[in-house]
Amino acid sequence: MKALLCTRYGGPDDLEIANLPDPQPGPGEALVRVKAAALNFFDTLIIAGKYQYKPPMPFSPSAELAGVVEAVGDEVTSVRLGDRVAAYVGSGAARGMIAVDAARLVKIPDGLDFDRAAGVCVTYGTTLHALKDRADIQPGETLAVLGASGGVGIAAVELGKIMGARVIACASSDDKLAFAREHGADETINYATDDLKEALRRVTGGKGVDVIYDPVGGPYAEPALRSIAWKGRFLVVGFAAGEIPKIPLNLALLKGCDIVGVFWGSFIERDPAGHRANTEQLLEWCAQGRLSAHVHAVYPLAEAASALKAIAARQVMGKIILHP
Ligand SMILES: NC(=O)c1ccc[n+]([C@@H]2O[C@H](COP(=O)([O-])OP(=O)(O)OC[C@H]3O[C@@H](n4cnc5c(N)ncnc54)[C@H](OP(=O)(O)O)[C@@H]3O)[C@@H](O)[C@H]2O)c1
Repeated sequence: MKALLCTRYGGPDDLEIANLPDPQPGPGEALVRVKAAALNFFDTLIIAGKYQYKPPMPFSPSAELAGVVEAVGDEVTSVRLGDRVAAYVGSGAARGMIAVDAARLVKIPDGLDFDRAAGVCVTYGTTLHALKDRADIQPGETLAVLGASGGVGIAAVELGKIMGARVIACASSDDKLAFAREHGADETINYATDDLKEALRRVTGGKGVDVIYDPVGGPYAEPALRSIAWKGRFLVVGFAAGEIPKIPLNLALLKGCDIVGVFWGSFIERDPAGHRANTEQLLEWCAQGRLSAHVHAVYPLAEAASALKAIAARQVMGKIILHP
């Protein structure tokens, strides 16, 4: 089988394509033929050795996949040959086949294709955990989403609408904002040209925002927090801008607000049943067309470097998929 391999830390051009023997499923594992592997922003960090999770070398990037069960090891009863499945695997999905702990596999409902199914687990999973479990968002509340056209950002726009929020999409270009509006955003703010703090106050009629979803950090986190409503929740999701903001804590006091950490990777280890229930719900909503699971572009494995460069260059709306 072909595999995209990271053999040393570096940039996208340092990745290699290798021919490896097909893996065999061990006890409790299923062998999955990968039809689609999804990339996330954190793949740009993992291959550079700059992410909190460092898989042993050599490894294949891509944390999530959709494919078909080709074989099962001893003691596997939850899936069968030919099942269409999706899974979060942490890393290693950018290859023709992968042996996966069968407990991680979730069946893909009819009507949902492999490309869209591959990119559901991380972005929508993170966002459902953030909005439901961490922010306890309520119908009628306002939700501001930074980086609203990116992977987790567009998931927050769509899930915010499903949960009854009034969604304010914030992004760096009018194209990205138009994309967010197509996916349900009620209001839009271009933070490259507008003052984010003032604009958030303006669109909430001076009340401030109830829930802020921040996967970007950098220069946007503090102005957003300064516009939060009394008893608001500021969700710390990520730092795609590169810089981890240092927030003056008096803001939390003055606003009577919560600054809430979101760590989906740890949540799924601590609550595997909750993670499975969330993933099944999300795949069902995608199959019903209530969530878009929007695919920005599909690349062959050999062009993975271009795919990762597009993510790092802030050019992607929704998900990037690799075909092994
Ligand atoms: N906490 C968790 O459990 C969890 C789970 C998944 C992901 N994350 C994190 O969430 C963040 C977003 O992930 P993603 O996969 O959704 O990424 P993505 O699709 O690449 O989107 C990131 C967005 O950030 C904005 N951005 C601002 N400065 C940027 C820069 N210098 N480079 C790239 N993007 C920049 C871009 O929007 P604009 O151009 O509109 O600003 C872009 O759309 C990452 O930091 C990731 O590690 C956290």
